[in-house]
Amino acid sequence: MAVTRTFSIIKPDATRRNLTGAVTKMLEEAGLRVVASKRIQMSKEQAEGFYAVHKERPFFGELVEFMTSGPVVVQVLEGEDAVARNRKVMGATNPADADEGTIRKTFAESIEANSVHGSDSDENAKIEIDFFFKPEEIVG
Ligand code: CMP
Repeated sequence: MAVTRTFSIIKPDATRRNLTGAVTKMLEEAGLRVVASKRIQMSKEQAEGFYAVHKERPFFGELVEFMTSGPVVVQVLEGEDAVARNRKVMGATNPADADEGTIRKTFAESIEANSVHGSDSDENAKIEIDFFFKPEEIVG
């Protein structure tokens, strides 16, 4: 299996509860390596741009408000089949549907405050990584 990269966000509900380390530990234990990481306050423009694919959804306004409600940690993760590996450890979008032992089952508060974001394809991973990181900020 090829070593690839994915993009992750530790969301405001998790940073607010001081869970950055706990979430990162679960990512690392799942075989993912943090090759870039920064804690940022996302602007409204950044959140709207990042989630542009969802702009027609009824929850778009709330999603932008939530993602700008506190600091987030944006990360680049590297590992074998990183996109699928990360999605497996994150669990389903809605924590009510997430498997035991996943990050969302363990920590998420709701479908909106669901603690982490992860890219859904290699193609989107590249787009999302490029949205937040310069190449020299990623050190594998
Ligand atoms: P994420 O993986 O960051 O991608 C889009 C986000 O929208 C998703 O996680 C959820 O946090 C959020 N989301 C998806 N569906 C809903 C919903 N029905 N209501 C509120 N937020 C949602």
